[in-house]
Amino acid sequence: MAMSTRCHAPLAACVFLVCAVSMAVYTAFPLSMSPCTNSLSRALLAISGLDPYITSCADHDDASAARLSDGGGSDNIIGGPIVTNLLTCGNATLPPHALPPFYCCPPMTTAEPINFTFPDPSEPLRVRRPAHAVGAEYMAKYERVIALMKALPHSDPRSFYQVANIHCAYCTTSYRQANPKLGVQIHFSWLFFTFHRAHLYFFERIAAKLLGEPEFALPFWSWDVPEGMRMPVEFANSSSVLYDPIRNPSHAPPKLVDLDFLGPEKNFTDEQQIQHNLRVMYKQMIGNAALPSLFHGQPYRAGQNDMPGAGTVELAPHNTVHTWTGDITLPNVENMGDYYSAGRDPIFYPHHNNIDRLWQAWRDAGVARGYRGHVDFTDPDWLDSSFLFYNEDARLVRITVRDVLDTEKLRYTHAGVGMPWLDAKPPTTPNVNTKKGSLKSVRFPVSLDAAVSAEVRRPRVLRSRHEKMAQEEVLVVEGVETNGNELVKFDVFVNAMEHEKVEAGGRELAGTFVSMKQPSMDHRTGKRKPMKTSMRVALNELLEDLGADGDESVTVTLVPRRGNVRIGGLRIVYMTE
Ligand code: C2O
Repeated sequence: MAMSTRCHAPLAACVFLVCAVSMAVYTAFPLSMSPCTNSLSRALLAISGLDPYITSCADHDDASAARLSDGGGSDNIIGGPIVTNLLTCGNATLPPHALPPFYCCPPMTTAEPINFTFPDPSEPLRVRRPAHAVGAEYMAKYERVIALMKALPHSDPRSFYQVANIHCAYCTTSYRQANPKLGVQIHFSWLFFTFHRAHLYFFERIAAKLLGEPEFALPFWSWDVPEGMRMPVEFANSSSVLYDPIRNPSHAPPKLVDLDFLGPEKNFTDEQQIQHNLRVMYKQMIGNAALPSLFHGQPYRAGQNDMPGAGTVELAPHNTVHTWTGDITLPNVENMGDYYSAGRDPIFYPHHNNIDRLWQAWRDAGVARGYRGHVDFTDPDWLDSSFLFYNEDARLVRITVRDVLDTEKLRYTHAGVGMPWLDAKPPTTPNVNTKKGSLKSVRFPVSLDAAVSAEVRRPRVLRSRHEKMAQEEVLVVEGVETNGNELVKFDVFVNAMEHEKVEAGGRELAGTFVSMKQPSMDHRTGKRKPMKTSMRVALNELLEDLGADGDESVTVTLVPRRGNVRIGGLRIVYMTE
């Protein structure tokens, strides 16, 4: 893979070229200019040698700085797939007060991993069904699966202990990249959906084998449809192996899930909560997810720092359902509310099964409505990235992203439960103060101790339908930085300085950033480093709904909800994928 020359040696020239051409940086306050490639056409990028996916200037700067300060060399080349190797698996980077076990690497084997092969096409198609509707008998099977896995010795890679640890290993930088100072973290990147699909695939096959039922399919927790918005009752029965005592007791059924959780409990009626949840779903699946990188997450290539930026669904409802389920009184909200421990709760797998279903739902919505951008990446760095899992025969398998794109080839499908959120676009708020004339200028980076409003210039206004189809206008919140030892949530409002007037989930609430604790480490020095990522909010449809498509700027209001976070800057770019 000759991916080593992305705006590489002549960096200064690239910086100049890109910034000069893109004009994607707004002005209202001083911000350091840096290469921001989103607004460039692919053709132009090809000429410049720049990567069309490097969307966070902050990340790009990091990578360049590393390259320069380390004096170059193969260690510092960015590009190519993320590939994990068992030999590089080491200590997990855990938050303080983590609960044991502390080591997450899978059992060693001297055998080389075998490459994944598809199951026989004549195998029965497993039909994954919704936990709330599938019946007690079926849920009893899932219960038996967990009991069988828990009965295996910890040394068995198919044991519940090890299956849970796989997730921990891939989310705590236990695996190192070829550049050993960098760990592998599959969250907050374009590997999010694909890693978890592979994890569930092997989980399901181990389950079927242990049960002796080749057609066994994993149930899903369909928290996005009203009938599924409670924790399935089987998980709340304290005498069941599906019960996890390390959860939030007040969220047991009949409590409805809050897909926007983290912060004070909302005093909603059930109807209000359902409507709110459907609106969250609409924004994350439709309004904000018009392009593959907005849905899947930002490109993450070999040599690059982890956590370039999460996709919409990963931030919420994925992260929010995690934190809603975990014990919020514990420092790390175990089990579900932190990456390292989430796989220890048997509800993790039905939760991710719904996430997996939503990937297909996003594609389906694109087909049904003619949304051009609801398609997966074709970038070889994505397709060739790979993960390691032990299969049902306890053989170590290397599976690539390319292998998990077609569920029929994997011999499973999801039973339909509808997409009631497809039409749940929230209404705009009347009489909300959209702008306050002259804003106090904000000096980024800013510590988000209180709400901050800033005017962000739009490089283009009143674009034609054709232009909008070709490019999504996107607000980038860059340099989102925390110390990694905090849960963080902040909301992004557009044209609503009086954000308190916007009812929960209202249209002006353009996006929400949510992260669980996410400690990062420089593995060469062994020192913790801040967690640094970025966030994106799609503007095409939003600005039309707000009647602001002709405005030369938008007013962005960032409202902290939990945790300490710094924001590096705001800018508007035009993205093609
Ligand atoms: Cu890998 Cu739901 O987290």
